[in-house]
Amino acid sequence: MTRAFLRPLRNTDLPELRSWRNHPDSRRWFFSQEEITEQQQERWFEELSGRDNERFFVIEDEEGVSVGTVSLYNIDPAKGRAEYGRMLIDPDHRGKGLALEATLAILRYAFSKLCLETVYLEVMTDNVPAVKLYQNIGFKTVRRYQKDTAGSGYEVAVMEISEPELLKTERSGT
Ligand SMILES: CC(C)(COP(=O)(O)OP(=O)(O)OC[C@H]1O[C@@H](n2cnc3c(N)ncnc32)[C@H](O)[C@@H]1OP(=O)(O)O)[C@@H](O)C(=O)NCCC(=O)NCCS
Repeated sequence: MTRAFLRPLRNTDLPELRSWRNHPDSRRWFFSQEEITEQQQERWFEELSGRDNERFFVIEDEEGVSVGTVSLYNIDPAKGRAEYGRMLIDPDHRGKGLALEATLAILRYAFSKLCLETVYLEVMTDNVPAVKLYQNIGFKTVRRYQKDTAGSGYEVAVMEISEPELLKTERSGT
């Protein structure tokens, strides 16, 4: 299986991240679908370093090549919960198991290092690759709702996983 490693985001990652995020096959699956400008991204990067309720990681492959991102945000230690998101793989590196590996790694971090009990996420229900990946890992849908934006609407699934469910998946060899 392809291995994936998580490391903190650096300023020098920003141009590559922007190109992955602005790719049409990526941004259509995010709730904010417009292209990100360099200025918007710089503001976001500055704000990110001041937030203690978010951990943003760049994914590297076995050769140390940066191939994507994952993040935990809305980290709430009192409730033992955090939201998983910003899962994005460089379109040139998809289909190699990198998102699966990176998701397993960030969940282990959430449960073992941050001592959280539940990780949840929101995904458009027609995002087949992402929904399939989450289901394979053991996320369960707890709610569905309709999101309406100007001119279009889509269905969103709220999914969540706890540590025992992750362990079950890992024991079964996913
Ligand atoms: C979703 C995404 C992160 C998957 O990344 P990836 O590295 O290609 O995924 P993996 O290779 O790790 O695939 C793992 C599993 O995901 C599912 N999957 C991935 N791509 C798929 C596809 N094109 N069709 C169906 N299922 C797919 C499968 O279950 C796959 O396991 P399998 O190969 O054993 O069937 C990637 O397509 C992406 O960056 N999409 C745009 C951004 C996005 O949608 N983010 C999620 C927002 S909620």
